[in-house]
Amino acid sequence: MKLARRVEQLPPYLFARISELIAAKRAAGVDVISFGIGDPDLPTPDYILDSLKRAAEVPVNHRYPETEGLPEFRQAVARWYERRHHVALDPEREVVSLIGSKEGIGHLPLCLVDPGDVVLMTDPGYPVYEIGTMFCGGESVKVPLREEDGWLPRLDDIPADVADRARIIWLNYPNNPTGAVADRAFFEEAVAWAKTHDVVIAHDLAYSEVTYDGYVAPSILEVDGARDVAIEFNSLSKSFNMTGWRIGMAVGNATLVDALRRVKSNLDSGVPQAVQQMAITALDGPSEAITSHNDIYRRRRDRVVEVLRQLGLRVEPPKASLYVWARLPEGEHSSADYAGRLIDATGVVVTPGVSYGPAGEGYIRISLTLADDRVEEGLRRLSAFARGEQVLDT
Ligand SMILES: Cc1ncc(COP(=O)(O)O)c(C=O)c1O
Repeated sequence: MKLARRVEQLPPYLFARISELIAAKRAAGVDVISFGIGDPDLPTPDYILDSLKRAAEVPVNHRYPETEGLPEFRQAVARWYERRHHVALDPEREVVSLIGSKEGIGHLPLCLVDPGDVVLMTDPGYPVYEIGTMFCGGESVKVPLREEDGWLPRLDDIPADVADRARIIWLNYPNNPTGAVADRAFFEEAVAWAKTHDVVIAHDLAYSEVTYDGYVAPSILEVDGARDVAIEFNSLSKSFNMTGWRIGMAVGNATLVDALRRVKSNLDSGVPQAVQQMAITALDGPSEAITSHNDIYRRRRDRVVEVLRQLGLRVEPPKASLYVWARLPEGEHSSADYAGRLIDATGVVVTPGVSYGPAGEGYIRISLTLADDRVEEGLRRLSAFARGEQVLDT
């Protein structure tokens, strides 16, 4: 059967390849410990689940939802932005619900990109930014991030002719995979740059609440005039351990929000209303759950950093995100080879940085979303490996 070029061109989804590797090791009898995927191990808090259970009993919630989301959900998003970011959003025009932020990220290019148009994405970066563009026949141009710049893009280095052809620039701070953060000054610079070149900023704020050591992540919409050019994606997934429930939101520029709503209304029928009800409970609820989850991730982060340093990796504890991003030891050049050797010797899976783009070469990413005992067992093995001991019997 002949499939469309857009399907033939799809790279294997990053985590699909990791899953295959894990399956092969498990088949060989190895107890694999995967620091690969960023999916919180902690359950959704009970008070949020209770509201889902209550909402499931209400017959109106058994019917089709509206694509844009319940008015009550959009109002809760607006309240959250007001409380959390001091940003006033019009829930009617500046908020749309998403079936997880990945869905909206994948669909945004349908609103803006015609064949041949350029979309800018940072490298390393979350792979989904590139795919939506490819589906529209657009061209992704990667803007390299460097450690010495704190993993922020040098916007002024983007050639003016490329910038002028670009329709979208994807930004993501707190960043996956580097754990880097951006301050308001960077967003101000980005907004000014985007206005000069008439480019839409799509800011992915999926990790806004996963922060440490007192750091508070800003929304790009806190910047004056950002709403003229920016749409921001956020999600309940990482903030409230709700990856399985699939709910997120896009907020910001009303024209973009409306275009996304129109595209989506032709493709999907929105988020189940009972899930929207639980999201309202989460957004309006207390912040203790977030604080206690972050305490757990912070403890894991510190242990991971300690052991990676024993292995000779160069690493700083991130201020945010679910990831530790570490530079390979001196003399190591291939992150895939290094990760492959770790799996073989220890059964511990880390993600090669190159999977997130060429500029990620030379680094690995470790996710903090494993149960504490698995984290400790993985770190015990890595420590033993660092001491030159044999770790696996097989
Ligand atoms: C940077 C980034 N954005 C968006 C997402 C998508 O999250 P969700 O679709 O669960 O909201 C992820 C998931 O890992 C991510 O890492």
